[in-house]
Amino acid sequence: MFTDTRTERPSLQQPLSFVGIGEGEKSLARLLWQLIAPHADRIIDDFYARVHDAQIMPRINQGTVERLKVRQAEHWAALFGSAFDEHYANSVRRIGIRHRDIALDPLWYVAGYMAMKIEMVNVIVATTLSPHEKGRMIKTLDKYVAIDMGLALSTYSASIVD
Ligand code: HEM
Repeated sequence: MFTDTRTERPSLQQPLSFVGIGEGEKSLARLLWQLIAPHADRIIDDFYARVHDAQIMPRINQGTVERLKVRQAEHWAALFGSAFDEHYANSVRRIGIRHRDIALDPLWYVAGYMAMKIEMVNVIVATTLSPHEKGRMIKTLDKYVAIDMGLALSTYSASIVD
């Protein structure tokens, strides 16, 4: 997990400030989750169908997919809920560790996230929001995905060194 260089304590504040996640973005992210949540199952289903077709991880069975649908939706609720608390930190840590355990190449994680993010962008684009509001939502989504991917990958590489 990310460590504050001054206190040596785990902290999300510095990366959040760096990418520009403040109170405005947090409110937008909560709205964003209300838009995306009804589509989450479909987005995750399509994603694992794609993973299956590409033979990235042929041993993922339907039971695992059903479990991951719940886990991913819970994780995104925690992320976009914007508390950035211990609950979220543990969730992102588990993702890094689980992917490390199954030896998932980080390339697939990043490319996979990109595929799901595009589906989320499609949900935003299909709303009746103004172009300006859509732009703000998409920028907020980008910031959140960068933080989430970065933290999971930090855990991944830290747990390899451990
Ligand atoms: C090609 C890319 C990916 C593959 C093949 C993959 C595969 C897997 C597998 C096999 C597991 C373990 C399932 C189990 O518990 O038996 C897992 C866990 C998980 N993955 Fe991925 N994953 C990929 C990308 C992603 C992405 C982009 C996300 C986005 C957030 C994600 C979120 C999760 C979550 C939330 C868990 C559960 C962690 C927990 O135990 O709490 N995965 N993944």
